[in-house]
Amino acid sequence: MKVVTIVGARPQFIKAAPVCRSLRVHHEEVLVHTGQHYDRAMSEVFFEELGIPAPDFNLAVGSGSHGRQTGEMLGLIEDLLVEQAPDCVLVYGDTNTTLAGALAAAKLEIPVAHVEAGLRSFDRSMPEEVNRVVTDHLSAVLLCPTAASIANLAAEGITIGVELVGDVMLDTARRYAETASHADTLARFGVEPGGYFLATVHRAGNSDDPERLAAIVRAFARVGKPVVWPVHPRTAKNLAAFGLADLVASSGLIRTVEPASYGETVALLSNAAGLLTDSGGMQKEAYFFGVPCVTLRDETEWVETVELGWNRLAGADEARIVAAVASLDRPAQRPPVYGDGHAAEAVVAAIEKHLGA
Ligand code: UD1
Repeated sequence: MKVVTIVGARPQFIKAAPVCRSLRVHHEEVLVHTGQHYDRAMSEVFFEELGIPAPDFNLAVGSGSHGRQTGEMLGLIEDLLVEQAPDCVLVYGDTNTTLAGALAAAKLEIPVAHVEAGLRSFDRSMPEEVNRVVTDHLSAVLLCPTAASIANLAAEGITIGVELVGDVMLDTARRYAETASHADTLARFGVEPGGYFLATVHRAGNSDDPERLAAIVRAFARVGKPVVWPVHPRTAKNLAAFGLADLVASSGLIRTVEPASYGETVALLSNAAGLLTDSGGMQKEAYFFGVPCVTLRDETEWVETVELGWNRLAGADEARIVAAVASLDRPAQRPPVYGDGHAAEAVVAAIEKHLGA
């Protein structure tokens, strides 16, 4: 089978790494990078570190408004799919790259396989929610990480081509956790195991809103331990634009650093007292490593983490964040709700089953 895989944003590199390896055992893969993320620290570093093959094509689309960015990708992907004539287009997650890949393929009647299908926040003001709903409705093979995601699809009438495969991020986490050198990384960041919180903020609803971003910064200053905060480029720009850099600096506890590599993230996360984040993927990674999480949003797609007591929703409310951090604990149970770390093989098997080897 010939598969065109379309990736473009940081979390997609982490998800694609194990699937590329499994897929290439028996199939031909053409890897396309849309260029949505283009900074070295947001892109190349992950290809090198996770051993992802170099992209066959880089569309170099870069940043832009949602419509413009997605539209530019759409035209370029269409040309490429016409030329490559694959049997399947494989997309990941919920970014503008995912939507453009799925839409270009569906219009050419090329079957779409969607990794991380069925996730819902039920908040259509999130660009990611629009992207994932549309992508699921265009997909022939829906590769679901959790039982909840299958139920979400069923509620929208999608039952054909749906497979429970587990979470491909767990495959990457397992593989990498074995090789990562935690002590070196912690020393480089000047922190001790359990002596700090790890934070990330990049969601448009938080980082583009001066009030919410300010409340998050004020909360970080009050959590009682150093906060190591690898800052996403959009958030870095907005901390400066909203005049929040002084608040960060004067807190004494907040340490903003450049975006971290995957290995650095694994080391910082697995040794943290807790994670403070609005990322979807990192809520799960915290669960994988047994680290409690405070989510800086009012809802989550990863409902299992909350139901099992490992994650608390605190929005962008200063008092709620501080209270949630104060109440963090590590529940006794951490059942394998995200599968067994072999989701990539299950993804390939499901594509073969539905689209023919
Ligand atoms: C995108 C995804 C989000 C995902 C996130 C992971 C969409 C709608 N959002 O958000 O779901 O969780 O990636 O990081 O697709 N920028 C740079 N350098 C880069 C990339 C971005 O400077 O390499 C800056 C630019 O100012 C850009 C802004 O960040 O305008 C936002 O980037 P964009 O790719 O549009 O969205 P993300 O916030 O990264």
